Amino acid sequence: MTGMRIGIIGCGNISPAYLNYLQDSSIVKVTALADMLPEKAAERAKEYEIERVYTVEEMLQSPDIDIILNLTIPASHAAINIAALEHGKHVYAEKPLSISLEDAKHTLALAEAKQLRVGCAPDTFLGAGMETSRKAIQEGQIGRPIAATAFMMGEGPEGWHPNPEFFYAEGGGPMFDMGPYYLTALVNLLGPITRLSSSAASLIPERIVKTGPRAGTRIPVHTPTHFSGTLDFADGAIGTLVTSFDIPGGSTLPRIEIYGTEGSLLVPDPNYFDGVVKIRKYGSEEWSTVPPAFTGAANERGKGIEDMARAILEHREHRASGKLAYHVLEAMHAFIASSNEGRHIHLESAAALPLEAAFRSSVKAVLV
Ligand SMILES: NC(=O)c1ccc[n+]([C@@H]2O[C@H](COP(=O)([O-])OP(=O)(O)OC[C@H]3O[C@@H](n4cnc5c(N)ncnc54)[C@H](O)[C@@H]3O)[C@@H](O)[C@H]2O)c1
Repeated sequence: MTGMRIGIIGCGNISPAYLNYLQDSSIVKVTALADMLPEKAAERAKEYEIERVYTVEEMLQSPDIDIILNLTIPASHAAINIAALEHGKHVYAEKPLSISLEDAKHTLALAEAKQLRVGCAPDTFLGAGMETSRKAIQEGQIGRPIAATAFMMGEGPEGWHPNPEFFYAEGGGPMFDMGPYYLTALVNLLGPITRLSSSAASLIPERIVKTGPRAGTRIPVHTPTHFSGTLDFADGAIGTLVTSFDIPGGSTLPRIEIYGTEGSLLVPDPNYFDGVVKIRKYGSEEWSTVPPAFTGAANERGKGIEDMARAILEHREHRASGKLAYHVLEAMHAFIASSNEGRHIHLESAAALPLEAAFRSSVKAVLV
């Protein structure tokens, strides 16, 4: 086999981003679409000239699909992921991997038992902006990383998403929706998180849909909408992460900064694949641009599943892995548990996620 055949389940808002990127891939081909609302799948299939429109069951049963790309809403992620694996297919899901940790654990165990792959968004950390940042840290350009700050402060998605209910249901909110971008970026740059503490609140009880045919519809809020937390990384660095849907006035704070013994790094928005990386070395008056080590566009959603397909063919690990997504999910649950229980939460999955060898050696090199 030279390429892999992808069947997409879930043809809503985010599906065009994947279809745009994947239509140029030489490794994978999207050959079928399915949605619980068949007209949505049919509409996308027409738009992107996809050969087949299936029901979800037909997609799962089809012998012509190698990987299921699960672009359903978070509440459906686990069921579709598990069904795909049970039908002998690899699966790559939008974030979060699932809502509950139990479902995520079951998903990974099932994949292991069946020798199948699980991949999960976000894959923005594979983009040029984050890869350039990672390379700068690995090369020791800021010395030993000591601290990080990350801020995702916005007004909530009801201003642009026509069906924003899931953002305010369990498994949504600024942590489960946007946290994966920030936590995946931080783990990719600094290694696993060993423990964290947080405060979380939901001070605005209702939202109003502002766009599309349902504009004016009221949505009850069932999840915290503001989180502020402190993260301890395995190598000793301390991070601060704020995610919020409660900041309608906006903020001037940078998305992510990493502070090291030799300088500071300004990392681009982890919701995008590109972006300018800036560095200010100790003793310098100015921030300067880190020359991009990679090229790419702002939206390359699909890079992660493409890497997973290539990794399957090359018999190597893929980067946007289920293991990484599980660690991020455990961290997001810990943000809620820490606030509810008033204590630090230790993350069990940190041990399963070793630092990259290159990163370890760069840290050692700086320390000696
Ligand atoms: N919209 C964005 O900009 C964006 C960006 C990045 C990631 N995501 C993630 O992508 C996922 C989907 O988001 P979206 O904005 O496209 O949502 P959406 O509501 O626009 O689309 C989801 C689609 O999945 C279908 N669906 C839901 N449950 C299903 C099931 N059990 N079986 C078959 N079909 C099912 C729905 O009918 C719908 O067409 C979410 O996990 C979200 O976090 C969205």
